[in-house]
Amino acid sequence: MNAVLILGCGDVGRRVARACQAAGAPVTGLVRSPQSAVQLRDLGIEALEADLDRPLPPLPSAGTELYYFAPPPTSGDRDPRMAAVLAALERDGLPRRIVYISTSAVYGDCGGAWIDEDAPLRPDTRRGLRRLDAERQLKAWSERTGIPVVILRVPGIYGPGRLPLERLRKGLPLLREDQCPYTNRIHADDLAAICLAAMVRGVSGTAYNVSDGHPSNMVDYFNRIADRAGLPRPPTLDREEAEQQLTPGMLGYMQESKRLRNERMLNELGISLQYPDLEAGLDSCFIDS
Ligand SMILES: NC(=O)c1ccc[n+]([C@@H]2O[C@H](COP(=O)([O-])OP(=O)(O)OC[C@H]3O[C@@H](n4cnc5c(N)ncnc54)[C@H](OP(=O)(O)O)[C@@H]3O)[C@@H](O)[C@H]2O)c1
Repeated sequence: MNAVLILGCGDVGRRVARACQAAGAPVTGLVRSPQSAVQLRDLGIEALEADLDRPLPPLPSAGTELYYFAPPPTSGDRDPRMAAVLAALERDGLPRRIVYISTSAVYGDCGGAWIDEDAPLRPDTRRGLRRLDAERQLKAWSERTGIPVVILRVPGIYGPGRLPLERLRKGLPLLREDQCPYTNRIHADDLAAICLAAMVRGVSGTAYNVSDGHPSNMVDYFNRIADRAGLPRPPTLDREEAEQQLTPGMLGYMQESKRLRNERMLNELGISLQYPDLEAGLDSCFIDS
């Protein structure tokens, strides 16, 4: 088995790590905080504590299957973390292959249209611009070094332990459903399986839309979770009120509407989704309740 290195070994990283460990591969996970390092060690994952915003220690990257799951910084239009990692890989040893989690924000607003991976990349937010910068750096590096890279454009991730229950308990408002954009989702366990498949079957230099193929909107998503959790449905606001009351982050999500086609992911990566829609996915989240 090839050794596995996961840069940004958080929730999705730990799911991928568990599958790699079960297949007998040694796994190292890079995290920033001591608490996350302890969490990895408790799971039998070799933990490397490092901050991608500071000079990097030697990375055990040579010959590895490398999953890059760390986000870009929270400001600016670029991803300097990606630049630092790519330089460190040339210094410390090239991996066999890289799978990178990007976001569907690289497409920007598409007016609710169904889009595949050939849609123009026109981010409307700085978050989207940083991701596009990371994708471009990675592809240019791959062309120069010959190391295969696969890009996954991921929408909202949900699953056990990552539902917006706190927001529902606080009764925070959302934009009215008839004014809400389309949003797309993927269950965290399906995402982990897609990452593993991308490592084996992803075509180098290719981006894959990741989605369960059933877009809806934020109000529908929150209402269904509230109903399952026995919490009140959130209040809703019209756009003018929302602009005054919603956080800039939430407003950013409300300004982009698109429906992701997922055929390339299903066909080229050979994916059969465990949770093909929200109903199936929520069953897994409320299994004990
Ligand atoms: N949430 C969504 O719906 C969504 C949608 C699309 C894409 N994504 C992206 O998908 C990826 C995986 O998601 P996830 O849920 O697994 O994220 P997560 O649980 O937040 O894990 C992110 C990991 O990156 C590490 N990290 C962050 N900044 C770092 C830095 N400066 N230096 C070193 N390590 C750093 C964190 O370490 P610590 O734990 O020590 O902080 C953590 O291990 C992320 O890039 C996320 O942005 C998320």
